Amino acid sequence: MSSGLRFPAALMGGRDRSPDGPDDSRPSSKGRPSSGPGAEKEGQGFGQLGPEGMDASDPAVPRHVAIIMDGNGRWAERRHLPRVAGHRAGAEAVRRTMQAAVDAGVEVLTVYAFSSENWRRSAEEVSDLKGLMRFYVERELETLQREQVRLKLIGDPGAFGPELGGKLQAALERTRDNGRLTLVVALNYGSQTEIAAAARALARRAVEGRITPDQIDEAAIAGLLQTHDLPPLDLLIRTSGEVRLSNFLLWQAAYAELVFTDTLWPDFDEAAFNGALAEFARRQRRFGGR
Ligand code: FPP
Repeated sequence: MSSGLRFPAALMGGRDRSPDGPDDSRPSSKGRPSSGPGAEKEGQGFGQLGPEGMDASDPAVPRHVAIIMDGNGRWAERRHLPRVAGHRAGAEAVRRTMQAAVDAGVEVLTVYAFSSENWRRSAEEVSDLKGLMRFYVERELETLQREQVRLKLIGDPGAFGPELGGKLQAALERTRDNGRLTLVVALNYGSQTEIAAAARALARRAVEGRITPDQIDEAAIAGLLQTHDLPPLDLLIRTSGEVRLSNFLLWQAAYAELVFTDTLWPDFDEAAFNGALAEFARRQRRFGGR
């Protein structure tokens, strides 16, 4: 079903690149170095992996928070409602959480809206989710502008067809210069596919003689992931009581703090988000050291 990670760069946020594309990484919205190759050139070290990219100015506030939004179906079921009602309530939770992230000073919020495995759901549910995203993108554009939120996509949203693609493209273009928060929506995303695409691109470069195999290191791989221009992932939240990563940001989560909550995604709100931030602030991050 997926067409691989070959979505046009323009539809990925305007600053992305395919694994073989040009290096157009840039500083993050607060002027701090990103985890991409640009940062590495500036001596920032290991991309998504290590502490070097951490913001020393306020380590208690995570720069980059990602959420596996789980539990929409159970939320609806408990109310004897169709699953789509749970997804609709889930979209409201996205809106609340985005506002909470802006208010907390988080730099990047990445949400798992549709995994590459979600195609296995019924045609009706897939169509409902697509419709909801179309609606959300239209309705929330003004909010994104007002709150200075930049939209970025990861995954392979091309598989959703030209109608939703056109709306996403318009939203990406309109929000591209916003600097308060980057909202990254993972659409038709699978982490293993993302890593395999990076490995393929590096293998191709090696075969062409552009790099030696010894140059394939952590930084080279991180620099080819779709998150290459984002700060390292600090905090990963999963709702609904499930305790697994489900093929989401596997590489990027190497040193992230993980917070699992029983709250179903449609019930997630500012208090729940701030609770996760407080839990993050209590954690001691060692990155393998002592
Ligand atoms: C998981 O709950 C949720 C999803 C697969 C979809 C997430 C989508 C949204 C929150 C709404 C639209 C998103 C945006 C960005 C506007 P589940 O259906 O697997 O719940 P269950 O495990 O209880 O069945």
